[in-house]
Amino acid sequence: MDLLERIKKHEAVVGVVGLGYVGLPLLIEFVEQGFKTIGFDIDEKKIVKLNQGKSYIKHIGDDRIKKVVDTGLFEATADFKRIGEVDCILIAVPTPLTKYREPDMSYIVGTGETIAPHLRKGQLVVLESSTYPGTTEEVLKPILETSGLKGDEDFWVAFSPEREDPNNPKFNTRTIPKVVGANTETARALTVALYDQVIVQTVPVSSSQAAEATKLLENIFRSVNIALVNEMKIILDRMGIDVWEVINAAKTKPFGFMPFYPGPGLGGHCIPIDPFYLTWKAREFEMNTRFIELAGEINTNMPYWVVQKVMEALNEQGKSLKGSSVLVLGAAYKKDIDDMRESPSVKLMEILMEKGAKVDYNDPYVPELPKMRMYDIQSKSVDLNEAALKKYDCVLISTDHSAYDWNFVVKNAQLVVDTRNATIDVQAGREKIFKA
Ligand SMILES: NC(=O)c1ccc[n+]([C@@H]2O[C@H](COP(=O)([O-])OP(=O)(O)OC[C@H]3O[C@@H](n4cnc5c(N)ncnc54)[C@H](O)[C@@H]3O)[C@@H](O)[C@H]2O)c1
Repeated sequence: MDLLERIKKHEAVVGVVGLGYVGLPLLIEFVEQGFKTIGFDIDEKKIVKLNQGKSYIKHIGDDRIKKVVDTGLFEATADFKRIGEVDCILIAVPTPLTKYREPDMSYIVGTGETIAPHLRKGQLVVLESSTYPGTTEEVLKPILETSGLKGDEDFWVAFSPEREDPNNPKFNTRTIPKVVGANTETARALTVALYDQVIVQTVPVSSSQAAEATKLLENIFRSVNIALVNEMKIILDRMGIDVWEVINAAKTKPFGFMPFYPGPGLGGHCIPIDPFYLTWKAREFEMNTRFIELAGEINTNMPYWVVQKVMEALNEQGKSLKGSSVLVLGAAYKKDIDDMRESPSVKLMEILMEKGAKVDYNDPYVPELPKMRMYDIQSKSVDLNEAALKKYDCVLISTDHSAYDWNFVVKNAQLVVDTRNATIDVQAGREKIFKA
């Protein structure tokens, strides 16, 4: 039976390489639709946990992983020789930036090199990692061809970007339409058929490059619009106008406006990073990406602006930042998740400490700050009780987790600097709140 037919009958074996925020939920969808799957990762700790039916991602419960293991359709392994056992290989490994803000392709290259020796005829390889146009064709395919097999003759390649939004209550992997791009009819047909089995809608485009560019456009759109509202925030603040009030009024327009919200800076694995993948590739074509650079400049400056507001707020109370104690609320890059990647909270902590403040943080989902790409701050989450809140000169709201009781925070804090408009509904003690 050929691969297309086996995909349609759910008889194809699906392998997912990289079992993180993207790869793991994707693999679960395939198991839940009755596909036999193998999950590959180089992190042995994740492999052990998964095979024991345990999760390591906050919003994916142990019960869901246990159910998946109990089906007998799932196995996790670090043994890449087993790549030969699967028919479809979906790659979801990290694509960060180097310290020179250039694409770090080492994970994609590493994965390709690990897979290539075990590749066999007839397999479909789909790259899911966000990356610049041309990666699948110019980077991944040639590495896979070191196997001696010819791409798009002996094996098939495609690109299908991930649109995962961790912990979004309205959308999950299954209900978010998925773009699929490939440079041959066969690869596109196979990839569309595969995702059609587990995802509500597939959106085929004419090439892997178009699919790669689609993902970048989506994230650049967010980055530029967030920069716009961040700039509006700074301007309106000087004019004494509340930017959140203005956005909430503007969004009542039923067409032609989409609300974006300002914050302490950009966070997460995608928005602060992916736009620069296009910037890097554009240089090859002697092009500059001015919107992207400008948005990057504004967004990167936000934590500095917030610290300036903390200084002004302390100043009102006759205090200097140097020597003051600051409690940062929320370490994750957005509300209700435990993901710390590129979190602006850490940048805030760093700047505050550089300026001589004593800094602690609280985050119900991040008990200890992990070592990160750019930072290694050793700190543990402090308890958030009345006495703790009272002792800090300033409480700085960086992440507006739903678990926080803002009335309690404002009631007990000496001073609150709010970067998220989290305290909008707090009535008592408003004189202590400074928006930033
Ligand atoms: N997290 C999101 O919300 C999100 C959304 C859309 C797109 N993406 C993109 O998806 C890709 C993956 O992101 P993520 O958030 O899942 O990352 P992640 O760090 O959560 O997971 C990546 C996994 O890959 C593993 N890995 C690293 N190198 C490997 C190798 N050589 N072989 C096998 N496994 C390897 C890591 O151990 C880790 O478990 C990135 O390109 C990211 O930009 C992420």
